[in-house]
Amino acid sequence: MSISAAEFGTRRKKILDNLGDNLFLLFSNFEHQKNSDVHFDFRQDSSFYYLTGFTEPDSLLILDPIGVDNFILIVRPKDRTKEIWEGFRYGPQGVVESFQADTAWTINEVDKVLKPLLQSRNVQFVSKEGHPLNDKVKALVGTHAKAVVPNTAYTELHRLRQVKSEAELNLMRHAAKISSEAHNKIMLEAPELNSESKLEATFKFSCSMADARDQAYPPIVASGKNATCLHYNVNNQKTGEQDLVLVDAGCSWQNYASDITRCFPAKGKFTEEQRKIYQAVLTTQKKCVEAVKPGISMKEIHQLACESITKELMDIGLIKGDFDKAIEAKAYFEFFPHNIGHHIGLDVHDCDGLSMEERGRSDKYKLQPGMVVTIEPGIYIQPDNKDVDAKWRGIGIRIEDDVLVTEYGYENLTIAALKELSDIER
Ligand code: GLY
Ligand code: MN
Ligand code: MN
Repeated sequence: MSISAAEFGTRRKKILDNLGDNLFLLFSNFEHQKNSDVHFDFRQDSSFYYLTGFTEPDSLLILDPIGVDNFILIVRPKDRTKEIWEGFRYGPQGVVESFQADTAWTINEVDKVLKPLLQSRNVQFVSKEGHPLNDKVKALVGTHAKAVVPNTAYTELHRLRQVKSEAELNLMRHAAKISSEAHNKIMLEAPELNSESKLEATFKFSCSMADARDQAYPPIVASGKNATCLHYNVNNQKTGEQDLVLVDAGCSWQNYASDITRCFPAKGKFTEEQRKIYQAVLTTQKKCVEAVKPGISMKEIHQLACESITKELMDIGLIKGDFDKAIEAKAYFEFFPHNIGHHIGLDVHDCDGLSMEERGRSDKYKLQPGMVVTIEPGIYIQPDNKDVDAKWRGIGIRIEDDVLVTEYGYENLTIAALKELSDIER
């Protein structure tokens, strides 16, 4: 199970066919220092990976629609000493043989390769501060190219990445399955584990035992009131007897992400208040998942979530007054301050051509078959919310699934992760 060389080739062809006679340059990622000579885990740039399948740092992709060679890679040279210390490198010859580059050169040869290609050409590229070739490429483009023109290829690339192929979906289904099983496993073991750290370790252990070592993002394991902080990820507190635990975690498989949130009582039994809020979120989440189909926008699904949460919180008594007035006043926002979801793929927050503010609330475009989105409503009652009775404060609940838009509706990729109250308690 993987993306075939032919599929990587088809992706490049779609970009090449849209370039006219422009030259397209795209940097890979580069390594980030953690301390002295230790680096953070390296992860390839998603768009660079999408077009090449190549996972080494410090590289440059050149797509030239009018040249003899359309697909050119600039990569680190072979280096025996470096390879003894840090591991294998493909080198130019290796990437021609294994990644179908028409030609390849080392990063030391970038002047020689780029100068003639740039003469009187319009170039599409974005610079990447910190990449070892960034300054040099910028200078070469500045001196030799005709102009830097709008990066239409990058926009097209993002559009292509939104709609997943069957091969991509199989990778995403696999990541989703491993993560779903890992969520079920921590629920099962939670009563024996008394800290966020141990719960996190159990999740990662399950993923690694399924050979999925990479997490798509740092897991959020938040017990008690920590769950009211949306991006909590310190994960170092003891869990209390009465605490709910919110776990937002997902592995990636061959760079494709999963993103799941489940909540469960640390000791297996919901309190009355926790049960009511949980049921309110679950009802809303199911309604929103059911709404996923071609033609609907994330903004419409977000609105559905706001209305459902308002209704549920009115039934519980946490929002009072007239329904329409409450919606107009956005009374839900105190309890549900984030978007209903986002696209997911190579990036956990996958490209959607939108700004962060617009994300999940835009109706600029409609969902299409092959897109995968998360559906993740939540209710968070902040510990300092003096407008509600003390018994409600500090409850934070989110339920999140990864949902594929199909021709007629949806497929929930993470359905195996238990979310019914009775299943969780059992
Ligand atoms: N795990 C980040 C998110 O749910 O968007
Ligand atoms: Mn998410
Ligand atoms: Mn998440």
